[in-house]
Amino acid sequence: MNHNPILVAIDTPEIAQARRLIAATASSVGGVKLGLEFFVAHGPAGIKEAAAGQPNLFLDLKLHDIPNTVAGAVKSALPLDPLLMTIHCTGGPAMMKAAAEARGNARTKILGVTILTSLDDSDLAATGQNGPVATQVVRLAKLAQASGIDGIVCSPQEVALIREACGPKFLLVVPGIRPAGAAIGDQKRVQTPRSAVEAGADYLVIGRPITEAPDPAAAAKAILTELS
Ligand code: C5P
Repeated sequence: MNHNPILVAIDTPEIAQARRLIAATASSVGGVKLGLEFFVAHGPAGIKEAAAGQPNLFLDLKLHDIPNTVAGAVKSALPLDPLLMTIHCTGGPAMMKAAAEARGNARTKILGVTILTSLDDSDLAATGQNGPVATQVVRLAKLAQASGIDGIVCSPQEVALIREACGPKFLLVVPGIRPAGAAIGDQKRVQTPRSAVEAGADYLVIGRPITEAPDPAAAAKAILTELS
């Protein structure tokens, strides 16, 4: 792997805390993930302030609306120069194509969210979608790829399946990562950093094992060392 795959998830709405964590981990991670909670509280100006000094931003807004609106939101995000940003695949092929086109020549990669990991087979049935979850995840990943989307966010358990279905160039960004011995927290299905990369993950989204460690800088460094 010729890039640092660690994206540290900064799940706090506090700018000062975000800045501290981002500064502490900057030399050991490949980028920083900021999501809806932070964006709704502080907007693009807050993202810019918090992520100053960290060139690779994963802007995890999980956009889902009609094609014209999602395309507009993607364009509005480009001044932040995100490396990665997310939309929902269930917005459909026209919406995904519009998002991919809106990105234009920017370096930003658009990732699809397939089925939220909070949903199970019975939730899919309740919302009128065909299951099981694994089948629907692969269907949406292939649809995303055919619609010009660069990759998807997927659970550690889905990496091998999607890599096989979508080939080597499709970006796979994987949360639910726990170094051996780390607290699992509310994650149900976890994998170690090394095994996720070996299974085919391009980026690892890692939050609490770094941000709640007594020494976040050392925790990030230890994960990087385990990977290299
Ligand atoms: O603290 P932890 O390592 O569990 O954080 C994982 C990050 O990845 C969080 O920001 C969480 O919102 C995000 N995420 C996830 N599972 C998904 C999608 C995103 O844990 N399916």
